[in-house]
Amino acid sequence: MADDVIKVKDLVKVYGELRAVDGITFDIEKGEVFAFLGPNGAGKTTTVEMIETLRTPTSGTIEILGLDIKKDRTEILKRIGVLPQEFSSFDRLTVEETIKYYADLFSADCDVDSLIALVNLDEHRKQLYMNLSGGLKQRVGIAVSLVNDPEIVFLDEPTTGLDPRARHDVWNVISGLRDEGKTIFLTTHYMEEAEVLADYIAIISKGKIIAYGTTNELIDKHFKTINVTIKGGGEGVVQIAKGMGMPIKSTENGNITVEASGNDQIVEFLNNLKSKNIRYTSMDIRKPNLEELFLVLTGEELITQGSDAE
Ligand SMILES: Nc1ncnc2c1ncn2[C@@H]1O[C@H](COP(=O)(O)OP(=O)(O)OP(=O)(O)O)[C@@H](O)[C@H]1O
Ligand SMILES: [Mg+2]
Repeated sequence: MADDVIKVKDLVKVYGELRAVDGITFDIEKGEVFAFLGPNGAGKTTTVEMIETLRTPTSGTIEILGLDIKKDRTEILKRIGVLPQEFSSFDRLTVEETIKYYADLFSADCDVDSLIALVNLDEHRKQLYMNLSGGLKQRVGIAVSLVNDPEIVFLDEPTTGLDPRARHDVWNVISGLRDEGKTIFLTTHYMEEAEVLADYIAIISKGKIIAYGTTNELIDKHFKTINVTIKGGGEGVVQIAKGMGMPIKSTENGNITVEASGNDQIVEFLNNLKSKNIRYTSMDIRKPNLEELFLVLTGEELITQGSDAE
């Protein structure tokens, strides 16, 4: 497409015996939020750092902003912004000094005040970096990635290890960037983050892209059914579902989840509960989410045990 700002084709990175990135192809359009979703060790950082010209591909091609990663490296670096995984800065500089420092380093003529406002750090501008919480530090990192007013911003796991509140604050900042028309390449292992923020999602596992599309496309393609969870209804719910031939997905802590083929079956199921006078405390009807999709595609949990800082 004419508006593609990143084109990756047959990209491979080999470390010794390991094919860390194993032949991936995708395009990203201008103004899109692209989420690269995968568990620890999937190959996210390796891929993103090849696109950022920081690592050299073993084979395959990358075109970014119509430029070649080998020949046009200096030009590319001027036009992209990068928040590396585990960003860290100088302990004894304030928020304001940190952003100014990086702006000078990039010889960027940036408006520090509006950058501070964009990442919602007005209240903290005089605070030392070392005294900021993890979420605030990440927001400083995002501001630093923006000093050169980049066209594409790469954010490598910007919310890993943050509490839910801090994560939402970072999401708000990322939405603000999207509203400004930036193209955003976001790597994450939180499916919820991808669902909330991304226009397109590529799921990567063991160096390969195993699914690609919008959240709805991915779910619709892989799941034709809808989960209905009834809380506090007891054995009668199971009997009715069985009588209707609906598969029982789980029965945990008084929650019974059954699989419905579509809306008509859900209505019939609820009518049957009513006519048999089965009372329940709550009901939840939803499509499976990306977490379940990942499980179905790989047989593995997206967030592996012990890998999450939460
Ligand atoms: N410089 C390197 N030398 C050797 N192996 C490497 C190197 N960098 C990465 N790897 C390996 O390549 C694989 C992919 O690593 P990568 O850092 O790209 O994963 P990731 O998806 O970013 O994971 P995480 O979510 O933990 O950041 C891993 O098995 C990793 O150990
Ligand atoms: Mg990584």
